[in-house]
Amino acid sequence: MADIPRLAFNDGHSIPQFGFGIWRVPQDICAEAVASALGLGYRLIDGAYLYLNEKELGEGLRRSGVPRDEVFITTKVWNNEHGRDKARASVERSLESIGIDQLDLVLIHWPVPEQDLYLETWEAFIEMRDAGLMRSIGVSNFNADHLDRIIDATGVVPVLNQIELNPELQQPRMRAENAKRGIVTQAWTPLGNGRSFEADPLTSAARRTGKSPAQVVLRWHLQTGNAVISRSVNPGRQAENIDIFDFELTPEEMDAIATLDVGLRTGPDPSVFKIL
Ligand SMILES: NC(=O)c1ccc[n+]([C@@H]2O[C@H](COP(=O)([O-])OP(=O)(O)OC[C@H]3O[C@@H](n4cnc5c(N)ncnc54)[C@H](OP(=O)(O)O)[C@@H]3O)[C@@H](O)[C@H]2O)c1
Repeated sequence: MADIPRLAFNDGHSIPQFGFGIWRVPQDICAEAVASALGLGYRLIDGAYLYLNEKELGEGLRRSGVPRDEVFITTKVWNNEHGRDKARASVERSLESIGIDQLDLVLIHWPVPEQDLYLETWEAFIEMRDAGLMRSIGVSNFNADHLDRIIDATGVVPVLNQIELNPELQQPRMRAENAKRGIVTQAWTPLGNGRSFEADPLTSAARRTGKSPAQVVLRWHLQTGNAVISRSVNPGRQAENIDIFDFELTPEEMDAIATLDVGLRTGPDPSVFKIL
């Protein structure tokens, strides 16, 4: 079984560098997908209230037989539940749905600057962490100005910022902003919808290593220092995606993949995204 490295948080805890995401995993197959991933050696499940499959996440965990304390579970508070009381209710509901006593990590899903409640939400996160509802607190889709606002006001630095990141959107500036503040960068939609799978830097590294373009991309994330979560409901592709710890990309291959960055998002821009 894969020996997945862990990345240290600024609060003394740590996270597996690689994990399994359950966005868009339908309820009727989610428990099986989670159990299958855990059976293959995944030890991080990335959920969110928005995904509407937290109950199934918990079912999958119990079905897998893997002890709770060996699995890192993340969830997120959605945009319409910002603010002190709603954020607390959201986290309590997630705990109950998943059927666990404590979350390993909870993230503010998006800053939604227009409604201007992310600072109050962060203050609620600090209180909840201190009360033991979750072990660590972080954010998702935060730009540098959003980070500075919550850090300056509270003195508490998020442990992690989960952002869209893939070969066509390598986010060097945001990765540096996170690193400068001691924040782990975690990549969402790490395969970038496969947009660059046919590109020469990926196909030639895949040929040399005997791996697939998807495995080369996931390996590139690891060697870049990103935490990364991938998703597949197909057990074969789940196994393929975790089989990335027995090879290494050369510095030349890493440089060639760097040229694929065109700054193209697949998802929305965090500075304006406001769907509630
Ligand atoms: N914070 C945020 O705002 C945010 C936003 C988006 C996502 N996320 C998180 O990030 C996780 C990962 O992002 P994502 O779900 O977009 O995942 P992804 O791993 O980038 O892409 C998943 C898609 O790629 C396919 N796929 C998976 N492995 C493959 C392989 N080896 N070869 C070819 N195709 C493959 C999957 O199809 P099959 O299932 O058919 O294999 C699925 O359609 C999410 O599940 C969620 O937890 C967070």
